[in-house]
Amino acid sequence: METFWIRSGRDKLSPMNIVLGITGGIAAYKAPDLVRRLRERGGEVQIVMTASAEEFVTGTALQAVSGRPIRSNLWDKEAEAAMSHIELARWADVVLIAPATAEVMARIVSGGAPDLLTTICLATEAPLAVAPAMNHIMWSNPATQANRKVLEERGIHILGPGIGSQACGETGAGRMLEPDTIAAAVFDLAVGKGEGLLTGRKVVITAGPTREPIDPVRYITNRSSGKMGYAMARAAAAQGAEVVLISGPVNLPEPPGIEVRNVLSAQDMYEATHTCVGEADIFIAAAAVADYRPAEWREQKIKKNEESMSIDLVRCPDVLASVAALAAGPFTVGFAAETEKVDDYARSKLENKSLNMIIANRVGSDCGFDTDDNSVNVIWTDGEQRFPEARKSELARDLVELIARHFYAARGTDPQPRLTVISNIE
Ligand code: CTP
Repeated sequence: METFWIRSGRDKLSPMNIVLGITGGIAAYKAPDLVRRLRERGGEVQIVMTASAEEFVTGTALQAVSGRPIRSNLWDKEAEAAMSHIELARWADVVLIAPATAEVMARIVSGGAPDLLTTICLATEAPLAVAPAMNHIMWSNPATQANRKVLEERGIHILGPGIGSQACGETGAGRMLEPDTIAAAVFDLAVGKGEGLLTGRKVVITAGPTREPIDPVRYITNRSSGKMGYAMARAAAAQGAEVVLISGPVNLPEPPGIEVRNVLSAQDMYEATHTCVGEADIFIAAAAVADYRPAEWREQKIKKNEESMSIDLVRCPDVLASVAALAAGPFTVGFAAETEKVDDYARSKLENKSLNMIIANRVGSDCGFDTDDNSVNVIWTDGEQRFPEARKSELARDLVELIARHFYAARGTDPQPRLTVISNIE
């Protein structure tokens, strides 16, 4: 696994230092997994627990996975002598609070600092990210929403929450995002600010499914989750690109630092793409765009009066082919989602749509759609490269590097000098 290195204010290369604040919510039981994910990516993790977090997860477990003594008490003389709260605040390249309760969000908004964690939040200049986790009614409470808004306005990154079943037995928005999703977002916070292969380049990416309405209550869609397209967007931003992500309806958090334009139908996606693709250097079509839509939209709900019925379908615009056909258009990359003859069909799409590259993947009930892993074969006119099964976030990093290299080769130019290194403080 690649380790991320950052150039710190001390002007030396060091792994990313993460202060992980854990507050008192049931999702704290996921904290050991989160620590593991952050460390897998090369982060140094210093845990700071609040008193109520200790009701949900033990310091012993967290100390074992983080490899560092847990900090929890602002008045612990011994710990403060080793590294004071001000030194901790300076040490951090990122401060992450996961899970973040409604209480800690309110505290940060008010600027109160009754404990070690909130004191660090006040004293740090590092980016601050919070992953809220609470009952859905608490999350939708106007007070919490007002606090969320203030935090966002102050540039604090809100990761999630996700929607789904909750520990309290209810369902709604308030679940903490999965540890791997949080870890990826935290590294993007620092990485996205860095210089990379695509610094100064604009990348437009489509992602997710489209919805083609039949009547006011029904539509045609597909199983795409948008995860691959979102991972590509994060990876391109991590390489320094200015990214516009044109997204169909998905259940994913907006990646920090990326302009997201939400659309519903294939026609919407076509129009949104053509408003911004003119200035793009690279276009990546990761969306599963509907090929057909109902010929007419019924204004009233269709009633089941007949034994059988049929719906006339007409072709949707092909977003990717239309971009590839632009004179002086961007370097275009498509995806080919196939259930059989994957490489053959992908090759014919590469030719028929006049693409620079195509990323072929097998999809089916067991793979490709709505999973966290993927394996692909990238094909271009005179070559191909296989990528074995990997997490979509890691795969996206490798794919974006390959695309960038081919982009510069096609343009006959070199990338800006590359720093694998991220500068996020001073
Ligand atoms: N695509 C697009 N607009 C469409 C259909 C597809 O932009 N209306 C893009 C997809 O985003 C993908 C590529 O074209 O990058 C191939 O999509 P895919 O669904 O695999 O193939 P189709 O071209 O739709 O052909 P078929 O359904 O016959 O396999």
